[in-house]
Amino acid sequence: MKTMSEKVTVPQLLASKSRRRRIVMVTAYDATFARLLDQPGVDVLLVGDSLGMVIQGHANTIPVSVDDIIYHCRAVSRGITRAHLCADMPFLANKVSVDRSLECAARIVQEGRAESVKLEGGEEAAEAINRIVRAGIPVVGHVGMTPQSVHAFGGFRTQGKEDSERRKIRKDALAVAEAGAFCLVLEGIPMELAADITKSVAIPTVGIGAGPHCDGQVLVSYDLLGLSEDFSPKFLKKYADLATSVKEAIAAYGADVHSGTFPGPEHSTSLRPGTAERRRKK
Ligand code: KIV
Repeated sequence: MKTMSEKVTVPQLLASKSRRRRIVMVTAYDATFARLLDQPGVDVLLVGDSLGMVIQGHANTIPVSVDDIIYHCRAVSRGITRAHLCADMPFLANKVSVDRSLECAARIVQEGRAESVKLEGGEEAAEAINRIVRAGIPVVGHVGMTPQSVHAFGGFRTQGKEDSERRKIRKDALAVAEAGAFCLVLEGIPMELAADITKSVAIPTVGIGAGPHCDGQVLVSYDLLGLSEDFSPKFLKKYADLATSVKEAIAAYGADVHSGTFPGPEHSTSLRPGTAERRRKK
């Protein structure tokens, strides 16, 4: 991570592979968190469609709309100084037609102020990726355990355990790179496959549940900060326990309100001495 204040650009992210400088990516959904996550020098803030789960409380990412992404992306853009701002193409923006994908990518960049879009899919997404890139919108690809295909996978399961699956994911990764993506998220695959793909493509790979051999890592900020209490998969390292901090803080506030110790005189304003008397005399 760098703490320098200049803006992170797509060419810099692309060059990070040859410079052997790992990319640090986390998700963000609002301006307050964006400001906090940006300051320590994160390279990419991703407005992920994981917002469907951690913000909206859905069981998966499928219900997230383009308008939802745009709303959160605009909020995040107001908190960013340095990080590159990437936003997810949600389910309906991604799965219908190339024209629709291009239209949605353009809205996410124009209305949401994203600097790139991320879209899930391999060979089948290559045409859309190429059209979006040719329109001047940088694209991050996403292959492996792609959460928008949760129903096809029968759950959020590691992909690439079978030979045939590994061959398909490898082909998908090459197709996405060939289509013009400048970065590739590898999610939920064995680390050996991630290492092989990372060596085989010229663009940087960013892993989540894909082991240590990628060119960068991404995590959902709520997960790494310990806000998602019941979510502890093997790939996740929790760097804080904010759920406990939040509950302790709210319990302390509630106790102070009940006991009358908050607000105290230091949190209250009073009239200047004599004001009440002067008012009474009027
Ligand atoms: O939506 C999301 O947060 C993501 C990352 C976990 C890669 O796609």
